Amino acid sequence: MFVLGLQGSPRKKGNTNYLLNEFMEAVRKRGAVTEVLHAPEMNILPCLGCGNCERKGFCAIKNDEMVTTVYPLLRRADLVVLASPVYFYNVTAQLKTLIDRSQALWARKYKHGLDDPGRLHRKGLFLSVGATKGKNLFDGMSLTGRYFFDAIGSEYTDLLGYRRIEEPGELARHPDVEKDVAALVEKIEPMFARKKILFACRENACRSQMASAFARQLAGDRIEALNAGSTPADRINPEMEAVMAEIGIDMAYRTPRSIDAAIEEAQPDMIVTMGCGEQCPYIPGVKYIDWDLPDPAGQPVEFMREIRGDIRKRVEALLGETG
Ligand SMILES: Cc1cc2nc3c(=O)[nH]c(=O)nc-3n(C[C@H](O)[C@H](O)[C@H](O)COP(=O)(O)O)c2cc1C
Repeated sequence: MFVLGLQGSPRKKGNTNYLLNEFMEAVRKRGAVTEVLHAPEMNILPCLGCGNCERKGFCAIKNDEMVTTVYPLLRRADLVVLASPVYFYNVTAQLKTLIDRSQALWARKYKHGLDDPGRLHRKGLFLSVGATKGKNLFDGMSLTGRYFFDAIGSEYTDLLGYRRIEEPGELARHPDVEKDVAALVEKIEPMFARKKILFACRENACRSQMASAFARQLAGDRIEALNAGSTPADRINPEMEAVMAEIGIDMAYRTPRSIDAAIEEAQPDMIVTMGCGEQCPYIPGVKYIDWDLPDPAGQPVEFMREIRGDIRKRVEALLGETG
């Protein structure tokens, strides 16, 4: 399971970062792979409000870190953790800049009718601290978080916020943090308990991407579907992305990766191979299935559609068998 933290405080040794680190440490102990992005250190430009994403489905800003790093990690994440101090009843400007740019994902979903296959299982959590003690202290950011989590295709589950925390280091002396974090991790326990299936092909650009997308879309709440390739390509196949979009499935911002990287994220219970041959590693105790599926890369689009249909049927049958 992959957990992505988005940290908004400009104080790297501040209270927010402490809280996020405590949470990440707890999920790592439970077996998750984690990554934290510090929004104040990133090159992320503010939304231009140009409407390009609504018209064309992608952001007009092409090469900042929102495009190169954040969108792909948001698509990969099983759990996204927003973490920010309260600044004028909302998140910090740096995190808000990142949040605004998720408008491109909102547009793909609501204007282009594309469904991110991770939506069924992805969860969103909010961690925060503020100096004052008002009842409504976290209301503003909670609303912002709700719409952010919806835009990125995730369910907003909880906000853990601490009042009367001001100076750096104060939260580390708070007596409840450990217990509160443990309670949050307990709530997401069913995500860890999902059966793990790794779909592996050669380049992780077409077949294994489609298979894991169908598995996520149909059963992501009970199956952790991973994908990988024995010799991963630089990017996913654009024709595969296009034929999946024809049936309303959003594959944009997915990136190929190696079998080793996928196995590090989760030890699979089952590996479905489709063309990685003798380069697929053997892991004792893991169930192997091989699908004889030709590589559709470079073939006419009709062939890609045929393979898409074939993979969907095979995934449906597999999910039926795995209960
Ligand atoms: C620009 C700015 C605005 C702030 N606005 C609020 C606010 O509206 N309400 C509040 O309770 N605290 C506010 N604070 C205080 C911070 O939320 C508080 O110091 C917090 O502990 C900082 O977290 P950090 O150590 O992670 O940066 C503000 C602080 C700054 C610098």
